[in-house]
Amino acid sequence: MCGIVGYVGERNAAPILMKGLEKLEYRGYDSAGIAVHDGKNVNIYKAKGRLKVLEERYPPSEVAGVLGIGHTRWATHGEPSELNSHPHVSGRIAVVHNGIIENYQRLKPWLEEKGFNFISETDTEVAAHLVNHFYEGNLLRALKKAVALLEGSFALGVLSADYPDTLVAVRKASPLIVGIGDNENFIASDIPAILEHTRKVYLLDDGDMVVLKKNDVRLYNSLGERIRKEIFHVTWDADMAEKGGWAHFMVKEINETPKVLHDTLLPRIDENGRFSLSEISGFAAMAGGLRRLFIIGCGTAYNAAMMGKYFIERTARIPVEVDYASEFRYRKPLIGRGDACIVISQSGETADTLAAMREAKKRGARVVAITNVVGSSVAREADEVFYTWAGPEIAVASTKAYSAQLMALFIIGTELAFRVGGIDEEQYSAMLSALIKIPEQVQRVLDNVARIQQVAAERFNAKNVFYIGRGMDCPLSMESALKLKEICYTHAEAFAAGELKHGPLALLERGTLVVSLMTEEALIDKTISNMIECRTRSAYILGIAMEGNIKAVETSDECIMIPRTMDCFAPMLAAVAAQLFAYYVAVQKGLDVDKPRNLAKSVTVE
Ligand code: F6R
Repeated sequence: MCGIVGYVGERNAAPILMKGLEKLEYRGYDSAGIAVHDGKNVNIYKAKGRLKVLEERYPPSEVAGVLGIGHTRWATHGEPSELNSHPHVSGRIAVVHNGIIENYQRLKPWLEEKGFNFISETDTEVAAHLVNHFYEGNLLRALKKAVALLEGSFALGVLSADYPDTLVAVRKASPLIVGIGDNENFIASDIPAILEHTRKVYLLDDGDMVVLKKNDVRLYNSLGERIRKEIFHVTWDADMAEKGGWAHFMVKEINETPKVLHDTLLPRIDENGRFSLSEISGFAAMAGGLRRLFIIGCGTAYNAAMMGKYFIERTARIPVEVDYASEFRYRKPLIGRGDACIVISQSGETADTLAAMREAKKRGARVVAITNVVGSSVAREADEVFYTWAGPEIAVASTKAYSAQLMALFIIGTELAFRVGGIDEEQYSAMLSALIKIPEQVQRVLDNVARIQQVAAERFNAKNVFYIGRGMDCPLSMESALKLKEICYTHAEAFAAGELKHGPLALLERGTLVVSLMTEEALIDKTISNMIECRTRSAYILGIAMEGNIKAVETSDECIMIPRTMDCFAPMLAAVAAQLFAYYVAVQKGLDVDKPRNLAKSVTVE
C-alpha cells in the first residue's frame, strides 16, 4: 500500500507533490514526506500523521525546487513515526517506496558490514542503502543493480543530490505509472495523483525502469534496454476523482451507482437487444463444456464472488467454488484444464488476488478478470477482462465498485445460463429487462435517503449488530456487515438466518440490532421465523425488503423499502440501502468515513 509520487519540471515541486499525495491518501495515511531538490541539495520534509500535518509544518509554497518525490505511508515494517516515514536517505540518494522488500533482513547485515548505518525499522532503508552502495554517478545503473538484489514487491522513486534535473523509478509488482506533461513529467502510484496535470500516461510493466527529465522520458526493461510503450489516454477527468461538493467520497460514490450500473450494463447489450460477451469470448465459448467455475477475491470482492455463486449455480446449474484469494493461493486448489476462474478486484493490484490468479493460470484454468482499473496488473495478466466501468473509487470502503461487480456477474451469469440451457428465451428476456431497470431503481433507493438517515441517527449507538438473510441475502449480509465494521468500528456479524439457532443466538441481548435482509421472497416465511426468535429476545429489528412486502414490515421494528425487482437482482438495490445505513452511522459517530483506521484501499502486500 502506500502512495508515491514524483515530479520534474519547471514549477515548484512541493505543491504538486503534496496535491498528488492528497489524492493517494486512500492508500495509506499514517505519515507522509517529500524530498525536494533545491538545485544544490536534496531537502527532506516528514511528519507523522495525516498529510495535513506535513503541509502545516512545511507550507509547500515555501519549499523551493523543481524536482521531488513524495510518499504517504501505511506502515508495514516499523510503527508510524517520523523516523520510519519516507523518503529514506543514504548519502546523496533519497528513496520513496511502495510495497514490501521481503529479503531486507538478509540484506541488512550485509550492508551493515559495508558500513551503512540503519536508523529506521523499515524495509525501505535497505533499498536506499543498496542504491547508494552501487552508485558511482549513474543513477539508473545503480538502481538496476539494486533491483537485482531486492525480492518482494516494490515501486521505487529515487533522486540523487548530484542530479537536480533527474528522477528515476522502477516498478516490480507494485503499481506505478508515468505521467507525460509539457515541460514536466510525473510518476505516481495511481492516476488521480497526476490527473490535474495530464491525461497521457505510460503504464509500466514489472521490471520496467524510467528516467525522467522535464523534457525527456526514457523507459527501460529490467535488463536495462531501452523500450517503447504506447501512451495510454485516461478518459475520465479530474472531477471524477474530486468530492464535487459531497461531504465524503463514500457518499459521492454511492450516489454514482446508477450511472456506474448503467455504464457497466449498456455497452454489453448488442444491437439485437442481447447480452454480448465479446470481451470474454474465449470464456463464453467454454460455456457448454465448463467443468467448474471458480470465483476468487478478497474482502468486498469475495462477497461479490459469493453472490455470483448463488446466482450462477441457481440459473446456469454450473458448479461454482468461491475462495478467498489468500487461501486459494496456498491451498493447492483442485483446478485445472476445462475449469474457468473469475478473479474479482476493484483495484486490480491486490497482492493475494494476483497470486491466486497466477496459481489458477499455472494449473491450466482460463482466467477472466472483473476489474475496475484499466491496465492494472490483474487486467494485464488475465486471459480476458470484463471491466466494471465504475470510475475511480477513492473511499477506502468499496461501494459503487461492488455494485458494478454484481452487475458484471449478473450479466455474465445470465448469458451463461442461457447458453447452457439453464433458462429459456422468456426467462432470459425477463432478466435482461429487469437488469435494464436497475439503475433507475437504485436512484429511487438513493432518493429515500432521509429515512435511512433517520434510522441511522436512532441506532448508531448499537454495540453489536447482526446481519441476517437467506439465499442471496446471505452474501449480501456479509457485505453489509463488512461496511459497518470498516467505517463505523461497530462489531457486526453476518449470519445465514437459519444458522442463528445453532449458536449465534447466545450472543443476542437487549438492544442488539438485527438487520434482516429479505429480498429472497420465496424464503421470507423462514426468515420471518428467525426474526421473531430475535424479537422475543429483545433485539431491535431493522428490515430491508421490497415494496409491498407486508410480512417484512409487520415483523420489523423499522423497515426500509426498496423498489420491486426479480428476487435475484434485488441485492443490488438492498446493498445501496445497507451502504447508506453504514455511511450515516459513521457520520453520526463522527468518524473519518473515507479513511477508516488501520485500513488502506489498495492492499498490495500479503
Ligand atoms: C472493503 C474493501 C476491501 C477490498 C479488498 C479487495 O470495502 O474495499 O475489502 O474489497 O481489499 O480489494 P480489490 O477489489 O481492489 O482487490
